[in-house]
Amino acid sequence: MKHMKFLRLLLLFIVVQVQAQQGGMWIPSLLKGMNESEMKNLGMKISAEDIYSVNQSSLKDAVPHFDGGCTAEVISDKGLILTNHHCGYDNIQSHSTVEHDYLTNGFWAYKMEDELPNKDLFVTFIVRIEDVTAKVLEGTTGINSESDKQKKIQENINLLNKTLPKETWQENSIRTFFDGNQYILFVTETFRDVRLVGAPPSSIGKFGSDTDNWVWPRHTGDFSLFRIYADKDNKPAAYSKDNVPYKPKHFFPISLKGLKENDFTMVMGYPGRTQEYLPAIAVEQIVSTLNPAKVAIRDATLKVQNEFMRKDNAIKIQYASKNASIANSWKKWMGETKGLKKANAVGVKKQFEADFQQKVAAAGKQAEYGNLLIDFEKNYTEIQEYALARDIFSEIALRNTEILSLGYKLFQLEQIYNTKGEQSFNDRRNNLINGLGDFYKDFNPKVDEKVFEQLIAIYTAKYPKAFLPAEFENVNATNLASEVFNQSQLVSYDKIKELLTGDSKTVLEKLNKDRGFQVIKAMADSHLKKVAPKYDEINLRNIATQRTYMKAIMELSPKSARIFPDANSTLRVTYGKIKGYKPNDAVVYEPFTYLDGVMEKYIPGDYEFDVPKKLIDLYNAKDYGKYGVNGKMPVAFIATNHTTGGNSGSPALDAKGNLIGLNFDRVWEGTMSDIYYSPEICRNIMVDLRYVLFIVDKFAGAKNLIEEMKIIYPKERK
Ligand code: ARG
Ligand code: ASP
Repeated sequence: MKHMKFLRLLLLFIVVQVQAQQGGMWIPSLLKGMNESEMKNLGMKISAEDIYSVNQSSLKDAVPHFDGGCTAEVISDKGLILTNHHCGYDNIQSHSTVEHDYLTNGFWAYKMEDELPNKDLFVTFIVRIEDVTAKVLEGTTGINSESDKQKKIQENINLLNKTLPKETWQENSIRTFFDGNQYILFVTETFRDVRLVGAPPSSIGKFGSDTDNWVWPRHTGDFSLFRIYADKDNKPAAYSKDNVPYKPKHFFPISLKGLKENDFTMVMGYPGRTQEYLPAIAVEQIVSTLNPAKVAIRDATLKVQNEFMRKDNAIKIQYASKNASIANSWKKWMGETKGLKKANAVGVKKQFEADFQQKVAAAGKQAEYGNLLIDFEKNYTEIQEYALARDIFSEIALRNTEILSLGYKLFQLEQIYNTKGEQSFNDRRNNLINGLGDFYKDFNPKVDEKVFEQLIAIYTAKYPKAFLPAEFENVNATNLASEVFNQSQLVSYDKIKELLTGDSKTVLEKLNKDRGFQVIKAMADSHLKKVAPKYDEINLRNIATQRTYMKAIMELSPKSARIFPDANSTLRVTYGKIKGYKPNDAVVYEPFTYLDGVMEKYIPGDYEFDVPKKLIDLYNAKDYGKYGVNGKMPVAFIATNHTTGGNSGSPALDAKGNLIGLNFDRVWEGTMSDIYYSPEICRNIMVDLRYVLFIVDKFAGAKNLIEEMKIIYPKERK
């Protein structure tokens, strides 16, 4: 009896440990040991060697970085890849016109010949991962100045990238981990002939749009399909009609066997950026100053764009992609701010810092680490105004006002002339002109004039007075907007081409007389002279402090501490369980959604919540084919995987490494996970693969694609 009680206690202890131990984005080549045993405790049936291996094909061979920003996974031996609808969005949009509106109606290639090439789209696979810290840091120990040290490191990296062994068609890319305490080499292969295969209509792929974005319960079928093409030797090649479907080293079988709460899941992908080890004062600055400033600017932009987009279908297509990406971070920053406050992240960090200080003292490391927190305090206080000015400038001038961000490129053109002369000027100009067609295709001066007016008003009111250019002191934003949009040559493709014709001297003279150019030049000048140098100087100190702080944390934490490197757009593995959560007092969220929920949200003809007729018919007939369970069609599910931007399109795998979900988002209450991960409340959101296949098969009738896949069906129910 006693024995049993002890065993039960032991079991309880293990369960509590495992539950507490989730979160973290781990390097796939370093899973053996702590991670592997945690994963097995959570239910994983495969080994670390199956996930990443240097000797044989492994799961990592089926997970490419998609277009530098998202993740995809290979799901057939003919190079078919799956990613999110919002990751393929730009490409779907660029093939769309008012007549062939693939955003609205979807697109399906029923034969390979119908697949659509995409000019700049690429996917990158990882061949090999290797620690190169010692090589990168060679010859840097004696260097005292931080900027000289960084310069030497960069030189070493450039040289190593060139000289470390690789095949001719491969690339070396060395990345820093733990804020400069570790360097890792990735040998990669990039494929540039990637064609669009299928996308559902936005009323499925973007169902719920911005209202539902970052929110659970969710009912979005956020997926699209592409295919990688290679040359006849299966090597990367530029687009050619003679290219053939890529033969992958591994592709994921898809399991339709069904999911339940507490099942093991893991997600592999390319998380972009997290800042889990910031000091309290930095988090405080994000919450109180930087996030609110950025949100206010995007608020204004989105109000203008949304009004135009809802009235005019051509504008809706032109601005769809830009609007979605502006809205996406805008909403995330709001959720993040709210979540950090609710979780008292600043308080938690302060407690951590007090403990840290004690550990430093106890270890007798006062001389080395004793001043770090004081340095942070000094640096962040000093940088605040500059950081705010920098964010306001980049949001207003580089991100949200199109004519200003274009103008900034012309400003850089002038700088290039001043620093590098005629030849560089000409090269850059030609480059610029090549990209202008795409810019003006989606540019509407009426929309941008309104955005300009709103944002210049914010600029004059909120930009720190010490840095505000003199000409903005008494400016009337409405008048300036109409002056610029009436007079500037930047507002039309034809006029700007004319503006850019002639030798450098003529072009620069014309530019400096242009009203639009004058405005951006004043803003950029002030930024580059009054803000950037000081910001960079303080920031460099902060980088050095952060590196030492990270080193100290690693050194002074117990062996069992789960310290993972911040995301940096390199391949990572995160794992956990399918799990609901409790967002608020008395509210519990279940981990699965169903097509019934789509119908509950359905608003006929609505901008965000319309549902295609065909889907309604399938729902009414309960015609779910092999994809439904007990008369219901699963749509999405959540789990405790620690993900971030860049993980979109990532494969969610079951205990055996089969594909069960497609990652696309996180829940509202947990969007703070980039800065502070809490296993109670942070969840990633995935489309259920059964919904993906149901849409491909029953909704789109693309049997050709289903036949390519390797599908594991549940055993016949009796
Ligand atoms: N929030 C998700 C991510 O960060 C999905 C964004 C796409 N959807 C949208 N409505 N903008 O990328
Ligand atoms: N939606 C994000 C992406 O595009 C994923 C996330 O931030 O959770 O990568």
